[in-house]
Amino acid sequence: MLSLVWLILLTSSNLVRTQNISHAKPKSIFILAGQSNMSGRGGVTNGTWDGIVPPQCQPNSQILRLNSELKWETAHEPLHRDIDVNKTCGIGPGMVFANSILERESGIGEIGLVPCAIGGTNISEWARGSSLYNQLVVRAQAALNHGGLIRGILWYQGESDTENREDARLYKGRLEKFFTDVRSDLKSPMLPVVQVALASGQGKYLHVVRKAQLEIDLPNVRCVDAKGLQLQPDGLHLGSAAQVRLGKMLADAFLQIMAPLPVQSSASTRFHNFFLDFLLSWFRYKS
Ligand SMILES: *[C@@H]1O[C@H](CO)[C@@H](O)[C@H](O)[C@H]1NC(C)=O
Ligand SMILES: *[C@@H]1O[C@H](CO)[C@@H](O)[C@H](O)[C@H]1NC(C)=O
Ligand SMILES: *[C@@H]1O[C@H](CO)[C@@H](O)[C@H](O)[C@H]1NC(C)=O
Ligand SMILES: *[C@@H]1O[C@H](CO)[C@@H](O)[C@H](O)[C@H]1NC(C)=O
Ligand SMILES: *[C@@H]1O[C@H](CO)[C@@H](O)[C@H](O)[C@H]1NC(C)=O
Repeated sequence: MLSLVWLILLTSSNLVRTQNISHAKPKSIFILAGQSNMSGRGGVTNGTWDGIVPPQCQPNSQILRLNSELKWETAHEPLHRDIDVNKTCGIGPGMVFANSILERESGIGEIGLVPCAIGGTNISEWARGSSLYNQLVVRAQAALNHGGLIRGILWYQGESDTENREDARLYKGRLEKFFTDVRSDLKSPMLPVVQVALASGQGKYLHVVRKAQLEIDLPNVRCVDAKGLQLQPDGLHLGSAAQVRLGKMLADAFLQIMAPLPVQSSASTRFHNFFLDFLLSWFRYKS
């Protein structure tokens, strides 16, 4: 009987070894939301994108994008081209972010980006129940259809809330509610969020919005500061070089909060446990 046990053990370990571990790794999914600087305007002048893709934003077979038809495809700039459709999109922080994560956490496996940002939107337009909010949740859920794990939200917004005193005053509460609602609807109460503090803005109440962004005090919410990043000649948006810097800052901040990667894929772990449980119950039955 003991030889049967050994046979089972041997078979089980062989099966585990021949499993393609890298293939079994869940896709790491990131949601990109907010307004124009997240959507990407780098290299856009007078409504035309110059088509220049910095080396840090180049496509990689490990980086996918959920398109407007909810299908995964190899990601390439501009990431929001079929999402933020009423504007001309250019370079944003998403591709740099994904490339930096891959560079520094090569074991992470595939990265899936879910672009959801729309230029010119204010925080009230993102409140739970709004069309932008629903669209975000629908896209996030569709992203999980073929497996994977939502690992974080990247959020860059606020400029549209700097013009009116009351909106600026209410910004902090609205932003906190937005993060809490999204986490709750995605059933991930500790989901990492990395947001960007605005550096400058057209509105009179920029300092109020900026202060709110820097002071948000929720677990696993980090803020990176866009201060010092260069605007392009339009005076309103980050240029491509600034987006490259920002994407790296977002990756740094995310890696600081990311839960440690599991050593083994969940599929082979489950497999192991199955055989262990089987053996244990068999021994229990015998004795
Ligand atoms: C394992 O998966 C990787 C990535 O999908 C693929 O490139 C490789 O060919 C696979 N190897 C085997 C033995 O299936
Ligand atoms: C963009 O438009 C402005 C105003 O119409 C013009 O002065 C400027 O030369 C244009 N820039 C480019 C790069 O076409
Ligand atoms: C684009 O503009 C149309 C017409 O104004 C509007 O119905 C639609 O919601 C807009 N889409 C986005 C993504 O802004
Ligand atoms: C937000 O934007 C919408 C649509 O442009 C507008 O109707 C609304 O008044 C704005 N709300 C605030 C608080 O700015
Ligand atoms: C884009 O980001 C820059 C830097 O934070 C900020 O000054 C600018 O107001 C933003 N523009 C918009 C339209 O959000």
